[in-house]
Amino acid sequence: MHSEQKEYWNNRYKEAQTAWDMGYPSTPIKTFIDGLVDKNQPVLIPGCGNAYEAEYLLNQGFTNITLLDIAPIVVEAVSQKLKSHIDSGNLTVICRDFFEHKGSYQLILEQTFFCAIPVGLRKQYASKMHELLSQNGILAGLLFNFPLTEQGPPFGGSKDEYLGYFDPLFTVLKLEECINSIKSREGRELFMLLQKK
Ligand SMILES: C[S@@+](CC[C@H](N)C(=O)[O-])C[C@H]1O[C@@H](n2cnc3c(N)ncnc32)[C@H](O)[C@@H]1O
Repeated sequence: MHSEQKEYWNNRYKEAQTAWDMGYPSTPIKTFIDGLVDKNQPVLIPGCGNAYEAEYLLNQGFTNITLLDIAPIVVEAVSQKLKSHIDSGNLTVICRDFFEHKGSYQLILEQTFFCAIPVGLRKQYASKMHELLSQNGILAGLLFNFPLTEQGPPFGGSKDEYLGYFDPLFTVLKLEECINSIKSREGRELFMLLQKK
């Protein structure tokens, strides 16, 4: 476990320093979810935070969702908020470092998790996502599209940089400027749709 990461993120929740938290599922991810047909496919959301996308999935009738976060405070909060779905067997909530997680998923959703991890772990993020996906599995979501600086999180990046991590392992179905970002992120996001090679 990256224990300093666990402490850092837990403290962000403890001190309510959570500017990333929109309080609702982002429009691009909602729109993507609306196009999904198989509601029983195993879905993982790593670095889930308050997991608004999971709530949306559950309300649309998805039955096999796993949430993962390194920060115990938010895992506890989400477990309480979504207890009825845990009890009905449609949802699993795990407090664990993504890089230590094992499992097999047809779909993994990315929402301000990649930008939160140390930049040196980006290549490992791509290979871990590849490992966690089943055959032809999909990694979908949003990546920031602004210059990478020392300051963060959130840490930025560019399409070219991201392709360097993902191209060897995934068929890039889409990695384009997002056209339906929420107002505060307009012009600063790429929508990503990658299929495991
Ligand atoms: C910027 S927040 C985004 C939270 C949520 N996805 C959202 O959009 O509101 C990043 C989240 O990733 C979690 N996180 C950071 N490093 C992690 C790791 N190695 N494994 C699992 N979760 C991690 C943090 O605890 C935090 O909840």
